[in-house]
Amino acid sequence: MPPDEFPATPNDALRIDRRQFLVRITPSGLAVVHERSPEFAQRVADLLEARDGERSPQQSKALELLEAALERAENHDKRNIKKDDILSTIRSNGGFFYSSSARSYLTVYPAEALPKAKGLAEYEPLLAGLEEGLIASYQKCPHLGCRVPECKSSQWFECPCHGSQYNRVGEKKAGPAPRGLDRFAVTVADGVVTVDTAARTEGPPIGVNTTGQEAEGPHCVGGGE
Ligand code: FES
Repeated sequence: MPPDEFPATPNDALRIDRRQFLVRITPSGLAVVHERSPEFAQRVADLLEARDGERSPQQSKALELLEAALERAENHDKRNIKKDDILSTIRSNGGFFYSSSARSYLTVYPAEALPKAKGLAEYEPLLAGLEEGLIASYQKCPHLGCRVPECKSSQWFECPCHGSQYNRVGEKKAGPAPRGLDRFAVTVADGVVTVDTAARTEGPPIGVNTTGQEAEGPHCVGGGE
């Protein structure tokens, strides 16, 4: 299960129990949440989305408004993320660049893996980004929807909920997930990166392994079946 507490935010007033927050949430309150901390707002959206089928009408409305606000932030980001800045962050942040507005991780796609990717239908929509050396993996686990964080020690993505593991480009390595992480198309124009969250490609089938990347250190969570 995901943790019961939200991570610390710059505003102490936002540090409240998850259940309390979800019960009390109102559309107007969300505007304040988003303005103070877009990252926190993203976590709220993730939690609301995970309550699929259990959301009250008010929570559904709140989710709709929150997603619209995040979409606006994403469009803003699209104009501002330079490829050089992303690569620099990837280097300084141990291999991963997280975009809360695109709800995805950008990682380096190795040039030597390109010939293998070019022969696979599920990589076709991603080729423009791969040729720029970048791939964007959706943060949502294709098993039951938990957010999948990076594991710096193994250099994989490892899901805290049921232990699914994916290599650094989102190809499934272990656990109960039915496929690799879904991806978004990436393009680069004039040195500026766009992650097109309207163009999501389903993750590759189990067994696809274009990079051959093995775990590079200890795992953060155990693999499960
Ligand atoms: S939700 Fe990720 S392994 Fe189940």
